[in-house]
Amino acid sequence: VKPSEVRSLIQPRRPPAPHGVRRLARCYSIDDLRRVARRRLPAAALAYLEGGGEDEYTLRRNRDGFDEVELVPRVLCDVARIDTTTELFGATLPAPIVLAPVGAPRLFHHEGELAVARAAGRAGLPYAISTVSTFSIEQVAAEASGPLWFQLYLWSDRDAARELISRARAAGYTTLLVTVDTAVRSKRERELRAGVTLPSPTLSARSVLEGAIHPSWWWKFLTSDVITFPNLVTPRAAGTLGGTDELGSGLGTLCWDDLGWIREAWPGPVVLKGIFSVDDARRAVDVGMDGVVVSNHGGRQLDHVAATIDALPRIVDVVGDQLTVLLDSGIRRGTDVVTALALGARAVLVGRAHLYGLAAGGEGGVAHALDILTEELRLALALTGCTRIDEVDATLVRRR
Ligand SMILES: Cc1cc2nc3c(=O)[nH]c(=O)nc-3n(C[C@H](O)[C@H](O)[C@H](O)COP(=O)(O)O)c2cc1C
Repeated sequence: VKPSEVRSLIQPRRPPAPHGVRRLARCYSIDDLRRVARRRLPAAALAYLEGGGEDEYTLRRNRDGFDEVELVPRVLCDVARIDTTTELFGATLPAPIVLAPVGAPRLFHHEGELAVARAAGRAGLPYAISTVSTFSIEQVAAEASGPLWFQLYLWSDRDAARELISRARAAGYTTLLVTVDTAVRSKRERELRAGVTLPSPTLSARSVLEGAIHPSWWWKFLTSDVITFPNLVTPRAAGTLGGTDELGSGLGTLCWDDLGWIREAWPGPVVLKGIFSVDDARRAVDVGMDGVVVSNHGGRQLDHVAATIDALPRIVDVVGDQLTVLLDSGIRRGTDVVTALALGARAVLVGRAHLYGLAAGGEGGVAHALDILTEELRLALALTGCTRIDEVDATLVRRR
């Protein structure tokens, strides 16, 4: 045996770079992307991405909740062809996955929403942009090739909110997501300890020191345009919505009565994001909503609420035949998607799962995160004996 032959046998083969980004090559799961993201981001950005409210009980519960549900596979089914397409609000999607709205994603990658919109568009999955996005409604629409949803935060100035809604309509957004679990911003101690200064990211002595440890992030941060919230700078909204104090804290005047005029202002589906109680879900039906997202904001708002996967079945039982129930908070795997569907969700929203990809590799990183989730979903369907999304039902899960 020649030495060269032995060498060729033991030489570690380098996996191909997904979407042209070398550092993603050994990322096989969302958790692998998270490890790369954690290396690349400075402490304050990481605290903003990963942190939750107060003791972070709910943040942990969201994951533990999934661990307490087990799948019950069906075997000996012909699963040679798997079809993950899904009907959602009249649209056909390649998978029951929506990219959740996130404020200030430019803190994770300088291309922020533009990178996410391009990757989501390539995958054909809807992307919900946040009111507090770092590129405008129109800029994101210009980059996106897939369906766009608009997430509305409401401050006291209703006319400014109407203006945002009509801009989103004019730019071709299809679905309005009204976030209802942020009456005030919660106390996020991880962010406080890391010196997060949102909504206006600033340089502190500590952050300058951090520049030495995360040079590429800082280089992009310092050489890109200053982070702003362009949706809030409209002729009417300037100085009202744009007031940074309000942005960081009190949103608190949105009430059930507002849903009447919001419903009238938006011709497409209106969905309440952050519904947790059965009574509120019933009221959502009464005021003519098309859907609700069972969400605790990824454990970032009120601490000590339950995992969303635990809250889901009761809400589906009561309103599932009257409106579309979605779920978010804690989705990291294809099996999580199947679990949520089996317990009655029609689709899921993913927040941090796509953000880890964004931080790890920009547009390519988000595309890789979506590839991982959709491929895992296909595997989970095949291994539970399902060939289509509508074959997923409650017989596939049991509580531990
Ligand atoms: C960094 C970050 C910023 C967020 N900003 C918003 C926002 O502007 N509007 C909103 O409705 N939800 C926001 N959310 C909540 C997400 O839309 C979603 O509910 C949550 O991330 C789901 O949990 P997951 O991250 O475990 O998937 C944010 C979440 C994160 C992680």
